[in-house]
Amino acid sequence: MGLRQSGVAAMTRTPDHTAPSRALHVITWGCQMNVYDSARMGDVLRPLGYQPVDTPDTADMIILNTCHIRDRAAEKVFSELGRLRLIKEARKAEGQQTIIAVAGCVAQAEGQEILARAPYVDIVLGPQTYHRLPEMVARAARAGRAVIETDFPAEQKFDFLPEAEAPQTPGNYTAFLTIQEGCDKFCSFCVVPYTRGAESSRTVQSVLAEARRMADSGVREISLLGQNVNAYHGEGPDGTVWDLTRLAYALADIPGLTRIRYTTSHPRDMNDALIAAHRDLPALMPFLHLPVQSGSDRILRAMNRGHTADEYRDLVRRLRAARPDLALSSDFIIGHPGETEEDFEATMQLVRDVGFALAYSFKYSPRPGTPAAGAPLQVPEDVKDARLQALQKLLREQQDAFNASMVGKTVPVLFTGKGRKPGQITGRSPWLQPVHVIGPDHLIGQTVPVHITERLTNSLGGLLEEENVYA
Ligand code: SAH
Ligand code: SF4
Ligand code: F3S
Repeated sequence: MGLRQSGVAAMTRTPDHTAPSRALHVITWGCQMNVYDSARMGDVLRPLGYQPVDTPDTADMIILNTCHIRDRAAEKVFSELGRLRLIKEARKAEGQQTIIAVAGCVAQAEGQEILARAPYVDIVLGPQTYHRLPEMVARAARAGRAVIETDFPAEQKFDFLPEAEAPQTPGNYTAFLTIQEGCDKFCSFCVVPYTRGAESSRTVQSVLAEARRMADSGVREISLLGQNVNAYHGEGPDGTVWDLTRLAYALADIPGLTRIRYTTSHPRDMNDALIAAHRDLPALMPFLHLPVQSGSDRILRAMNRGHTADEYRDLVRRLRAARPDLALSSDFIIGHPGETEEDFEATMQLVRDVGFALAYSFKYSPRPGTPAAGAPLQVPEDVKDARLQALQKLLREQQDAFNASMVGKTVPVLFTGKGRKPGQITGRSPWLQPVHVIGPDHLIGQTVPVHITERLTNSLGGLLEEENVYA
């Protein structure tokens, strides 16, 4: 059956306002794209009457949106499912039904295993099939048995999703927007090409339309998401292919959108035009997540990253030449198979050379089905532990130094909500640092200069520049 005849497309056009109200609880693990996907699953189910609730205990449907990136992902899913099963049974005893759906990257990778080990699960769906959720819910109810959808469909889900409800949470001034998905790079250690499928980009029109709706509803800062976001190559309205630079310029023209970020970029996909945009386009924030994973050429080669450590250093130099206040963040994997003490030292040296404002570092975790998992020379756990500790200490020092360097400066802060203390409002700097000030609520949603006066543990404190004006 063609999907255009299915419930998804039909309901997009004629929402069923008479659908009975049902409670939906979504549990989200993993990356920002999963956060975006969870919101969109909520959008897809809204025409069926599903409204989000904060706890699973009273939910008519529970979606567990999973992540497969590192160790024990599947065990974690099964242990959570055990908890959800108890809720389902307790509700059943009261004559109420609960649909349990497992979504996301573990569902994609281990869907059959989930159905075999957790027969109380009703729906298993991969990241590329959630536009079919209403149809799956209906099928699960009709058939009285589990429904699984983990094939990569020929159609793009974005062509079938209803409009995103924006802002996804009222009062949100920042939002995620997925523009590219999947990956064809096949790094030795990574499951993403298998769980998210082949790389593909949304059309320019659908991205711009969603961004306009977000801006109209108050969003001021958009984070464009993609597993290789800077490889974006979406079809433009004129039939030509647009790259991320061209898209960023078009987004910056949308009234109300003042800040644009994008994540995650691959060093191989950085190009001169995008680097120049960091110089010329004020809306592009001076903060870039550009994972390098390792500083050793040998390991970078084994990882299939497609660049050397010096090429990364050179890229950083060009970025900083274009935008001197650009701050960088990165991911690191410690203990990839074959990593020697010398390789690790090369990573430490790269960190010292570059200086990161923020970084995420992980012990290498063998993922089933990936080339590195079966490679010889696996690094013992205790060696990984020791190296990770040393790396994290250095990264922490750099992060603290970066945050400390803000004290005494005046920076534009986009205020996003009230702080924890009375009279306090909180927002974020261009470099993603949370900033707290004492100030009036009406500044929430605005970008205002703040004089930074102190570095707190993971945030900054400041004073409004023109306090008398706002008081
Ligand atoms: N597309 C991004 C990364 C997406 S995965 C890129 O190419 O940089 C997010 C991060 O998880 C990776 O950057 C990597 O540091 C980490 N990661 C992925 N697979 C891993 C594994 N098997 N073990 C440990 N960390 C892993
Ligand atoms: Fe994974 Fe590499 Fe693709 Fe990033 S580029 S998602 S690390 S395979
Ligand atoms: Fe995890 Fe899938 Fe994201 S494996 S990191 S949820 S792409």
